[in-house]
Amino acid sequence: MITGTGVTKTYRQRGSILGARQVPALRGVDFAVPRGGAVSFIGESGCGKTTLGRIIAGLETYDDGDIVIDGTSMSGLGHRARQPFFRRVQLIHQDPYSALNPTRTIHQTLSAPLALRARQTGRSRSWTDERAEELLSLVGIDPGYVLPRYPHQLSGGMRQRVVIARALTMDPDVLVADEAVSMIDVSLRLGILSLLKDLRVRLGVGVLFITHDIATARYIGDDSELYVIYRGQVVERGPTETIIAEPVHPYTQSLLSAIPVLHGLERPGEEQVVPTEALDEGRADEGCLFARRCPFVTERCEHEMPVLGRGGGEVQRHACFHPQPRSVIPVGAGQ
Ligand SMILES: Nc1ncnc2c1ncn2[C@@H]1O[C@H](COP(=O)(O)OP(=O)(O)OP(=O)(O)O)[C@@H](O)[C@H]1O
Ligand code: SF4
Ligand SMILES: [Mg+2]
Repeated sequence: MITGTGVTKTYRQRGSILGARQVPALRGVDFAVPRGGAVSFIGESGCGKTTLGRIIAGLETYDDGDIVIDGTSMSGLGHRARQPFFRRVQLIHQDPYSALNPTRTIHQTLSAPLALRARQTGRSRSWTDERAEELLSLVGIDPGYVLPRYPHQLSGGMRQRVVIARALTMDPDVLVADEAVSMIDVSLRLGILSLLKDLRVRLGVGVLFITHDIATARYIGDDSELYVIYRGQVVERGPTETIIAEPVHPYTQSLLSAIPVLHGLERPGEEQVVPTEALDEGRADEGCLFARRCPFVTERCEHEMPVLGRGGGEVQRHACFHPQPRSVIPVGAGQ
């Protein structure tokens, strides 16, 4: 189980004539990835998804809050002491073309991490070849065909499967899939999504799925939980199917009705909610972060910041003063 409490990250970006600009990438995010569970983070570009994924994978630091892996707080540990925990969380990159070294065969690509794993677990060197074949078969490709080949000799879908096999060499508890299907041909996307779902069942590995496309989150599993992030804040959270069927936060509704989804698999519903104003990054962060784009904004929203409810038995939580369920995608679409 991996949990995060109040995870906060602010970047300083140089380049402005007024000096460094503070960019709040994450504003006190709480999350939980249960063992073997599936969690999706969705939101538009720049909302902090990758930052959160990299923090969970131990590739990025955080300024405040805590990450707890199986009961151990990462905040109290030094860099070295954290490493064994972060082996358990492996990142699958968005771009299968740049993720693999073009000068190495797939055999070489898998052998290096497997040799390390063999040393860590006291296995013999010969185990690595056996394990490479096993992992490639597990991700649905023929080891005999793929092992001697270079990345450029494989299709995008095959490369992404190799990237997933490489992530599995470390026996992770959780795979962080950051836009893992966005650069793959549409016809091959469902295959990769089903593979991730299948790995959950067969290996009990948890999946943390990062996407700007709410519909792909559906294909990770019926029991998955969805986190909708807007400008670094989780604005709605709950069971994926419930949120897609009845989103209560206006931002979630606008994401669903804008529908940049797996083309042909989802259709917009009756009630479309279109943001009324483009995002103004220069605005101070008083009040609701979504206020300038929200069609339902009131005086209160301008001055007070809504916070996400903390459980209390509620499965669907939101950070909005005026939540109202609206159906923006017909239930069952694309199934
Ligand atoms: N290394 C960095 N230095 C400075 N600012 C950064 C850095 N990484 C991210 N940011 C900023 O933090 C914010 C969140 O970025 P992040 O990459 O997490 O967003 P994202 O949701 O993954 O976006 P996308 O959908 O485009 O991948 C953005 O405003 C981005 O410009
Ligand atoms: S709090 Fe107000 S501005 Fe923010 S999303 Fe809800 S209705 Fe819109
Ligand atoms: Mg990103």
